[in-house]
Amino acid sequence: MITVFGATGNTGSPLIEALLAKGAKVRAVTSDPAKIDSLKAKGCEAVAANFTDPAALEQACAGADKIYLVTPAHLDMRSWKANTIEAAKAAGVRHVVLATGLGASPKAGLTFGKWHSETQELVKESGLDWTFVQPTYFMQNLLWQADSIAKEGVYYDDLGGPVAWIDARDIADVAAEALTGSGHEGKGYGLTGPEALTGEDVAATLSEATGQSITAAPLAPDDAKAAMMSGGMQEEVAGAMVELASIAPKGYLGGIETTVSDVLGRPARRFKDFVAENKSAFVR
Ligand SMILES: NC(=O)c1ccc[n+]([C@@H]2O[C@H](COP(=O)([O-])OP(=O)(O)OC[C@H]3O[C@@H](n4cnc5c(N)ncnc54)[C@H](OP(=O)(O)O)[C@@H]3O)[C@@H](O)[C@H]2O)c1
Repeated sequence: MITVFGATGNTGSPLIEALLAKGAKVRAVTSDPAKIDSLKAKGCEAVAANFTDPAALEQACAGADKIYLVTPAHLDMRSWKANTIEAAKAAGVRHVVLATGLGASPKAGLTFGKWHSETQELVKESGLDWTFVQPTYFMQNLLWQADSIAKEGVYYDDLGGPVAWIDARDIADVAAEALTGSGHEGKGYGLTGPEALTGEDVAATLSEATGQSITAAPLAPDDAKAAMMSGGMQEEVAGAMVELASIAPKGYLGGIETTVSDVLGRPARRFKDFVAENKSAFVR
């Protein structure tokens, strides 16, 4: 049995499908009991457990030998992951596939790198087998501004430099391989897409897919932070996002890793295919 936390999210949802396609026995976890039926309809078990509820977390891990652990970017993500790692250990789980972020290490200078590093170190100290999936910027983040792209024909570029966007489904596929294949213990998989794109590249890709003229406009850090907070993000988390974006102009988010193709034996998904698949979201 494999327990998948964050099962309705960007990486957890495609992971459920990838694991079921491989014939694995899967238990999906949501914090929202109202989502249980739709999760079960996929063909897996489904339970409700909140990251703040140790007893429910242990129940969710009961009988599982592996778990996928992702939390949203949230100020409490370190305690939520700590609770889950403890519950997994108590339930007899053997292997944790932990979602963190590219650059997470004890030497990280950025807030996200430090937060993710703390949870990586907790897993290492737990004595459980581990695999870290450490992605760069998700293609799915583009959907945050789908409305304004559609209505105004503008892509607001808060990154300001080349970024090797990754499709969250590739993170899920690598996690599925780590959970069902062999030899992934003790590995940290830095994950990127196959190409680094500037804001102008993003706008050109959107124009090509939609047949509409979409231009790129720079978005100042304070405006980017305000936009993320108006979408419900906590101030400190939005601040960490802006801090991360600040290294893009120096080229630090543009490095390409070959890990997706190394692990999966197929190329990483391309940005232009993601945009084409989601074209209706970007059209007036
Ligand atoms: N976005 C990026 O560009 C990016 C880049 C690198 C790393 N990351 C990292 O990736 C992680 C986010 O991954 P993701 O996008 O797959 O996650 P996500 O979609 O943001 O969230 C996963 C799920 O967590 C569940 N959840 C929320 N609060 C909960 C709670 N209190 N208890 C139990 N479950 C709860 C939600 O499902 P329910 O509502 O069903 O409970 C949600 O669908 C973060 O750690 C972030 O730092 C993101």
